Amino acid sequence: KTLNDLGDVRGRTVLVRSDLNVPLDGTRITDDGRIRASAPTISTLAERGARVVVVAHLGRPKGAPDPKYTLAPVAARLSEVLGRPVAFATDTVGQEARAAVEGLGEGEVALLENLRFNAGETSKDDAERGAFADALVALLGADGAYVGDGFGAVHRKHASVYDVPQRVPHVAGGLVEAEVEVLKRLTTQTERPYVVVLGGSKVSDKLGVIDNLLGVMQSGDKLLVGGGMLFTFLKAQGHEVGKSLLEEDQLETVTGYLQRAQESGVELVLPVDIVAATAFAADADPQVVPAQAIPADRLGLDIGPESGALFASKLADARTVFWNGPMGVFEMEPYAGGTRAVAQALADATSRGALTVVGGGDSAAAVRALGFDESSFGHISTGGGASLEYLEGKTLPGLQALEA
Ligand code: 3PG
Repeated sequence: KTLNDLGDVRGRTVLVRSDLNVPLDGTRITDDGRIRASAPTISTLAERGARVVVVAHLGRPKGAPDPKYTLAPVAARLSEVLGRPVAFATDTVGQEARAAVEGLGEGEVALLENLRFNAGETSKDDAERGAFADALVALLGADGAYVGDGFGAVHRKHASVYDVPQRVPHVAGGLVEAEVEVLKRLTTQTERPYVVVLGGSKVSDKLGVIDNLLGVMQSGDKLLVGGGMLFTFLKAQGHEVGKSLLEEDQLETVTGYLQRAQESGVELVLPVDIVAATAFAADADPQVVPAQAIPADRLGLDIGPESGALFASKLADARTVFWNGPMGVFEMEPYAGGTRAVAQALADATSRGALTVVGGGDSAAAVRALGFDESSFGHISTGGGASLEYLEGKTLPGLQALEA
């Protein structure tokens, strides 16, 4: 069910679970993508006259208030993006929250303090989580409703994601609806050739998704591997990787993937050159070296220019592209070239009419940090772990609860 199924919301108190978990430098928001993506649902409800109570988490505080993780800066930015005031409550289910909710008129918006300042939000204990969910529901009054719109958190079995919708009328918000629709197209009725680009530091974070995608992908599809995880692939092929990131305990699994790809006709493409440095620093003498001959005293921090061109050529005829994870340490300019090349190749694919999806907090932040316009991509997912788990074929607690 979606927003329209809520019917008339005028005067009703509607709890919106958004994902406003944005990167911060102190109190400065360095990427407001998730706030902007969450705004339309909140605006729609406000325009329809609902009393809108937004709840969200920030970072991973330990179940108690921690000023480092206050949502106060997010409330200020949300208000700017919405173009309307946002009342900020300095607690989540206490006196401040109750007062903020009571003070809401029709079409007004409040944001409550970080859900994770309360141990019940993330508790593994059903009763403890349930008690916190009850406290959230108690804020709403008799005709309250719940809108699940925090796509980035739907893989978490948390009170605000999983337990609250079991207690009140609930629907999916516009963002969750849009995300699910796009991700579905990456697993069913996918137009081919289908090219998946995976990066990021650890292969152990991507095992489930590689496993499932190798089941979905067919002969002629391609899997391009960059980022820190590529070195475990190179090593599995018998190459030395110097001081590069290596997950020895995944070598056997990765060898299995190489074999499976070969058997199914999926082309698994690894970089041919690497930008390698003497240390994890921008000024550590970065040099382009062959991927198969990384010097023993160097570590790879990006894919090289030839690999960028190779990856772009592999994307040239793609009809569907999913990209998760930067190709290198893009935050440092000497190691940003690979990520930039892949982003450009996706942008080119978009203008040719391919469906291009950028998934994952890091890759989404990367394309924005590198100056790409969001319209260069078919869809930029607000989910990191959530979009990966969706593609792994897992049941996501937040979606399961909304469907019930
Ligand atoms: C994310 O950033 O992926 C989501 O907001 C979920 O955050 P979490 O990994 O701390 O649960």
